Amino acid sequence: MDDSFQQSKGVPDEANDQSLRPPVFSEFQGQEKVTERLMLMVEASQHRDDVLEHILLSGPPGLGKTTLANIIANATGTTLHTTSGPQIEKAGDLAGVLTNIQRGDILFIDEIHRLHPAVEEYLYPAMEDYRLDIIIDSGPSARSIQLNLPKFTLVGATTRSGMLTAPLRSRFGLTNRLDYYDASDLSQIIERSAGLLDIEIEKEGAFEIASRSRGTPRIANNLLRWVRDYAQVKANGVINKEISEKALAMIEIDNDGLDEMDVRILEAAIYKFNGGPVGLSTLAVAVGEDASTLEEVHEPFLIMQGFLKRTPRGRIAMPSAYAKIGAPAPPNQTGYLDGI
Ligand SMILES: Nc1ncnc2c1ncn2[C@@H]1O[C@H](COP(=O)(O)OP(=O)(O)O)[C@@H](O)[C@H]1O
Ligand SMILES: [Mg+2]
Repeated sequence: MDDSFQQSKGVPDEANDQSLRPPVFSEFQGQEKVTERLMLMVEASQHRDDVLEHILLSGPPGLGKTTLANIIANATGTTLHTTSGPQIEKAGDLAGVLTNIQRGDILFIDEIHRLHPAVEEYLYPAMEDYRLDIIIDSGPSARSIQLNLPKFTLVGATTRSGMLTAPLRSRFGLTNRLDYYDASDLSQIIERSAGLLDIEIEKEGAFEIASRSRGTPRIANNLLRWVRDYAQVKANGVINKEISEKALAMIEIDNDGLDEMDVRILEAAIYKFNGGPVGLSTLAVAVGEDASTLEEVHEPFLIMQGFLKRTPRGRIAMPSAYAKIGAPAPPNQTGYLDGI
């Protein structure tokens, strides 16, 4: 829902993200374990006058991976070079990026699980020995040349850490998994964003938006903008609890933060597949969504909230899913839960 909502406002996601992105650790709310580790690494490397080790950030979209990469670069006073897995199509593209790098710079590769396997091979020596072996020309005149690189830090971000190959994963000094935020962290984030956007908001209003934001700062910021518009047109512009509730009801976000697609997934699992188990791709076709979006965006939240369960035989709707959509509970719930 956040994507279609962004599109309907005609503002690209990235531009929106930029203005609200906290630039320093002290403004980055929540994820304390991760930020503590990162701050420690930054401090230690500065003491030794050394370059940071490679860092992997994983977790669902919108939780702060890109933001953290920016913060790390700010904290180390280095330049961030941004690219993404699918953007690097061949070894030459990688060479192009790496040859622009200065000692200590951060190379941020978003969606690193989508790197082409052939490119990945070139990345290993670059990460380990700061060396790039590239082959120029082809056929009989092919030769390999070696480029020495300055010592740099690779920060990789992925929504699918399970899809990373073992050799790539093992080359990161530290792997950090970002989790969904609780409502009080999200409330703080919303209040901070409201301040930056000059929006008047009451604590209860912020909390109401927070608790319906699927644990995700990006969604919290998007919903805040919508509620602001609503408050301007339907009220005096100040966001309170009641305004938040009405504004979010109008775009069909329920009080657990489930959006239209989440509800459609639960309904399909229950009504079309008898509660499951149902395979991911079958479920995706039934709701008209791409299987990887289903797996990366919707499913983790539904699983975390206990609506859905992932089993080797497929996805299963849990009793709370029946309650959520108002379907009669499955017959013999204990029997039904056997063997899960
Ligand atoms: N911990 C946080 N504190 C404040 N704002 C955050 C935090 N994490 C994310 N955001 C906001 O959410 C938006 C999305 O974060 P981003 O780093 O782009 O997520 P990801 O790269 O994981 O998809 C950013 O614009 C930022 O403003
Ligand atoms: Mg990102």
